[in-house]
Amino acid sequence: MKKIHVSASRGYDILIGRNLLTDAGYYLKQVLSPKRVCVVSDDVVFPLYGENVVSSLEGAGFSVVTFVFPHGEPQKNLSTVSELFDFLVKEGFTRTDVLVALGGGVVGDLTGFAAACYLRGVKFVQIPTTFLAQIDSSVGGKTGVDIPGGKNLVGAFWQPSLVLCDIATLSTLSPDIFADGTAEAIKYGLIYDADLFDVFRNHLLEEHLFDVVYRCIEIKKQVVEEDEFDTGLRMILNFGHTLGHAIEKSYHFTGITHGRAVAVGMVLISDACAKNGLLSISDAEAIRSTIQSHGLPVSVPLETGSLCALCGSDKKMDGDTLNLIILEDIGHAAVRKMSLAGLQEFMGNEG
Ligand SMILES: NC(=O)c1ccc[n+]([C@@H]2O[C@H](COP(=O)([O-])OP(=O)(O)OC[C@H]3O[C@@H](n4cnc5c(N)ncnc54)[C@H](O)[C@@H]3O)[C@@H](O)[C@H]2O)c1
Ligand SMILES: [Zn+2]
Repeated sequence: MKKIHVSASRGYDILIGRNLLTDAGYYLKQVLSPKRVCVVSDDVVFPLYGENVVSSLEGAGFSVVTFVFPHGEPQKNLSTVSELFDFLVKEGFTRTDVLVALGGGVVGDLTGFAAACYLRGVKFVQIPTTFLAQIDSSVGGKTGVDIPGGKNLVGAFWQPSLVLCDIATLSTLSPDIFADGTAEAIKYGLIYDADLFDVFRNHLLEEHLFDVVYRCIEIKKQVVEEDEFDTGLRMILNFGHTLGHAIEKSYHFTGITHGRAVAVGMVLISDACAKNGLLSISDAEAIRSTIQSHGLPVSVPLETGSLCALCGSDKKMDGDTLNLIILEDIGHAAVRKMSLAGLQEFMGNEG
């Protein structure tokens, strides 16, 4: 087992290992004195891992209730949060009680947001069970839900008390859901660590899964520690996401997963970086073939020009300017401010 400490406005540890769930109660007890815990999970994850976690927590002296909601992004909304609030009130949860998020990014984002708001803030623990949640959504303190106007438009920065990353839980993921996490892991290599990218280029992910999860978390930690509230360096985590979000929007957030949209976004931007003389053509080709060889798409049947136009409604827009994350080399990202017209031009569409 390895540990990464994140120093944020409220610091916390991330424990990374195999079969940590069985000892979840022990680890929680190290940071929270025995009290009431509500395990929040979805109807896919809870049947797989819920009993193990609940009995471990009870064994450590916690009194446990469970709130399980249907899986999937459409459930990450205010009405599920409201049901959770009602449940916590009914159970008499007070400010000293704790929420535990057991699941993927949907469960983690929703539980963290509920924890940030319930009684103006209660503690929460993340037990991420997807590749994406372990390396991305459970680190950094961003929580939130979707509203009809868009994804993640309502949220809060709220740091967990502890994150337990049990690599063993990844063995039950479907290849498609695993691949969504792979897209984000490749992103870390591209923006920050060429050696990490080589693990994917050389198809060594399976045998190095633990090290990859550890390294991705370490990179996210470094980036978010420098920029907890997302005003500077953290923007590089958005590599592939400006166009990725536009792709998700074109598919009405249902026809394509986030990881797949980001995979295509990374390929489009890398190709444009090569066309603009920022990145070598061979690097752009390596990025494309590596992404493709990990079961991810490298194109979508949509006009790049119309995707660029959709970037105008991105929530990361700063007035009329957007911060496009570009690659100067594999392992080195930079932020380039540009207008929408500038983006069209950069992507090779004169509008
Ligand atoms: N807060 C952040 O910083 C941040 C960052 C990136 C993504 N996100 C959010 O994360 C969400 C996506 O996360 P996700 O990809 O984990 O989606 P998810 O939570 O919907 O999980 C995907 C599917 O896998 C199932 N699942 C989870 N763990 C499993 C396991 N161990 N075995 C078998 N099935 C399992 C789930 O039930 C679900 O059906 C999005 O809502 C996105 O907005 C947040
Ligand atoms: Zn992402």
